[in-house]
Amino acid sequence: MANPTTENIKEAVNVYNEQNCDGIIGFGGGSAIDCAKGTGIAAAKNTTDFSRFKGVLKVRKKLPYFVAVPTTAGTGSEATIAAVITDSETKEKYAIIDTKLMPDAAVLDPELLLGLPQHMTAFSGMDALTHAVEAYLNRSNTKQTKMLSEEAIELIYDNLYKSYDNGQDIQARTNMQRASYFAGKAFTRAYVGNVHAMAHALGARYNVQHGQAVSIILPYILEEYGEAVHGKLAHLGDIAKVTEEGDSIEVKAEKFIESIKELNTKMDVGTKFKELKNEDLKSLADAAYREANPLYPVPVMFSKSDFIRMYKQLMVS
Ligand SMILES: [Fe+2]
Repeated sequence: MANPTTENIKEAVNVYNEQNCDGIIGFGGGSAIDCAKGTGIAAAKNTTDFSRFKGVLKVRKKLPYFVAVPTTAGTGSEATIAAVITDSETKEKYAIIDTKLMPDAAVLDPELLLGLPQHMTAFSGMDALTHAVEAYLNRSNTKQTKMLSEEAIELIYDNLYKSYDNGQDIQARTNMQRASYFAGKAFTRAYVGNVHAMAHALGARYNVQHGQAVSIILPYILEEYGEAVHGKLAHLGDIAKVTEEGDSIEVKAEKFIESIKELNTKMDVGTKFKELKNEDLKSLADAAYREANPLYPVPVMFSKSDFIRMYKQLMVS
């Protein structure tokens, strides 16, 4: 399943009600787990009108007992209070954020990852990296979320390419699962940022895979942030072990951004979106702006024209 829709959730809650269920297991990637979260909301609130729950703390009712069993390592949905859902009719993709969406339990079994194809290993692993980096750069981070991000980033740099190169490497898979969980915990407190806002708009419009979208966008946004984030990126570069001792803060930050591009290249993630069309730029920028402002405590706030400029950079010329 890619990008769960309100239609998917309606089907799932029909089964839930017909079978008199009293609990939900979300088994699969982030989209399957988000679909299960949506199903829990539909069951608890007895409605499939989801636009009511868009935004923060609109659910406010205990969901049926919910276990998340991720079969990818990256979305972090097993550790978060968010679900991202696409409206089947309007194609709008929005986040529902509420503490009630936190799974009652998460089962992290690395054996479930062994069959994950290479491209999904890459996309979901880079999604985890993006969660960790955006949470780390945000102004709402805490000592604890910073530690979670740092730990996730170290694990990702040590294990993502290994698990991409050899999908049967159970240790690398285990470590990526932990990284995904830590990054999920970090961003559920400290939020994601402009990378995710742009990726959600792209995903809703062209159904681009979420992890692929964020991994391509991440280095462009970090470059755009410039000096405002050099200190933090330099520190992350040290954690990722891509810097050298005598490097200046600026050089370390540049090396960290470069290392993200290198990971994308080594795992064949891509650098642009061939789907992007000039006539869509304004509505994409509007959607990204609506999502990011004022919700995300990003280090550099973007205007609508900033978002248009960033989308333009991502077009195949
Ligand atoms: Fe994500």
